[in-house]
Amino acid sequence: MPAEDLKRRAAAHALTYVTDGMRLGLGTGSTARHFVDLLAEKVHQGLNVLGVPTSEQTLAQAVSLGVPIATLDEAGPLDLCIDGADEVGPGLALIKGGGGALLREKIVASAAREMVVIADATKKVETLGRFPLPIEIVDFGVASIQRHLAEAVRAAGCEGPLTIRRDGDGHPFVTDQGHLIIDAHLGRIPDPARLARAVEEVAGVVEHGLFLGLARRAVLAGAEGITVLE
Ligand code: 5RP
Repeated sequence: MPAEDLKRRAAAHALTYVTDGMRLGLGTGSTARHFVDLLAEKVHQGLNVLGVPTSEQTLAQAVSLGVPIATLDEAGPLDLCIDGADEVGPGLALIKGGGGALLREKIVASAAREMVVIADATKKVETLGRFPLPIEIVDFGVASIQRHLAEAVRAAGCEGPLTIRRDGDGHPFVTDQGHLIIDAHLGRIPDPARLARAVEEVAGVVEHGLFLGLARRAVLAGAEGITVLE
């Protein structure tokens, strides 16, 4: 089955967790996009929800489809956040940020009573790290930050090149918050919590794509159907 169909199935399953009156965090990426499409259909059928988008991209989609939206400060604490992931590891540890929205995604997920991850089943891994870990940094002293990050990563038992993410024109990719992203190509992250602590200690790091202890459930769609990890 094509990956897009699986993503849509995961999104459709997550919609069953949504009830009238909920304030929802709306994730970013191709899977979250399916969820917002399906949510919009329900809104047009009379479902009353308020969405807090995690990116300018999702904001534009929600507005274009007529999903009521608010900023996080306007909405206050959220009932549920539905978002995709690049990898889902043991204990629902995640790598996110492939779309560059990790900072807002983590803030919105942290503001929600529950975060539900939606993905096709290929995103489930035994060990995180095959997908490059996105690290959002300020646009100042980039080479110095990169050097310190390399040391931090090594001290946390990981290894691999750290590259500055570029857009399609070869320019540095700039996040919605005006920062840059370093992608850490580590292959394996044996101890995600240790790596998270090490990366957070580097001056200039704004956020990283390790989401630990945030997801309550993962809805994974595979050829054999839906699996919910809790
Ligand atoms: C964006 C993200 C996405 O959720 C992640 O990259 C998964 O995207 P997709 O659903 O397109 O595979 O973290 O920053």
